[in-house]
Amino acid sequence: MTNDVQQAITLLQNAKHICILTGAGISAESGIPTFRDKQTGLWENFRAEDLASIDAFERDPKMVWSWYQWRRNLVKDKQPNPAHHALASLQQWGKTQGKTLSLITQNVDDLHEQAGSQVTHLHGHLWKNKCSQCDAAYQGEIDYSQDALVNCPECEAYIRPDIVWFGEMLPSGAWQYAEQASADCDVFISIGTSSLVYPAAGLSQLAKSQGAKLIEINLHPTHNPLIDVVLASKAGEVLPTLSAALL
Ligand code: OAD
Repeated sequence: MTNDVQQAITLLQNAKHICILTGAGISAESGIPTFRDKQTGLWENFRAEDLASIDAFERDPKMVWSWYQWRRNLVKDKQPNPAHHALASLQQWGKTQGKTLSLITQNVDDLHEQAGSQVTHLHGHLWKNKCSQCDAAYQGEIDYSQDALVNCPECEAYIRPDIVWFGEMLPSGAWQYAEQASADCDVFISIGTSSLVYPAAGLSQLAKSQGAKLIEINLHPTHNPLIDVVLASKAGEVLPTLSAALL
């Protein structure tokens, strides 16, 4: 076991409140592309502002809807990987130890839930939909095998994925929870995120300003000087090591 891993284990053993923020990198080993990794990242091949904004949807709803239907097809059979399972085990371990372990994700997949974790989604849900005009949640069935636009039964505007697009506010309850958990924690762990998208990227700074120790788990670490312990590994390899040592 490396020194860094040992340091992370000691921090987690001594912490009472642990806050964990995950990003696309935690689902990479399940076969879901990240956004900004070279060659494989979604934003290498698509311009985010053409697909993930209300302006893009208003300009060309069919293109945006088709892209999300494509992503749903890409994600639908994917399974949680050892990183998701290790976090679910750590959350259970936390309960037995009188610790709180708040798990917050920027991901819109549901692999944390599938692994059995309780998780707060900051950027919405790939599998939920809402009206682009009246905001009503859409409960009807969506056929993922075709791209036809769907109309809101209330106001007839187009239905869109319930995902936070660039320029939109995060869901207020989820954001309040994330801020509180970050401000209250002794240890904050960011996993598989490039930490480029705010406000989520600011949570680690908030935690640090309140005295928390920061751990980063990332295959290509961000070189943020605020981080105390960097584990430059695949999440699916290092998280099972941490959980095996702690449980
Ligand atoms: P990014 O694609 O920006 O970053 C993914 C990070 O995961 C990178 O830093 C990689 O080095 C790291 N990574 C890749 N594979 C890994 C592995 N196996 N183990 C550990 N780390 C790994 O994704 P996010 O930071 O999540 O927003 O992106 C933030 C937001 O930007 C997303 O939520 C999305 C996007 O636009 C919305 O959809 C609203």
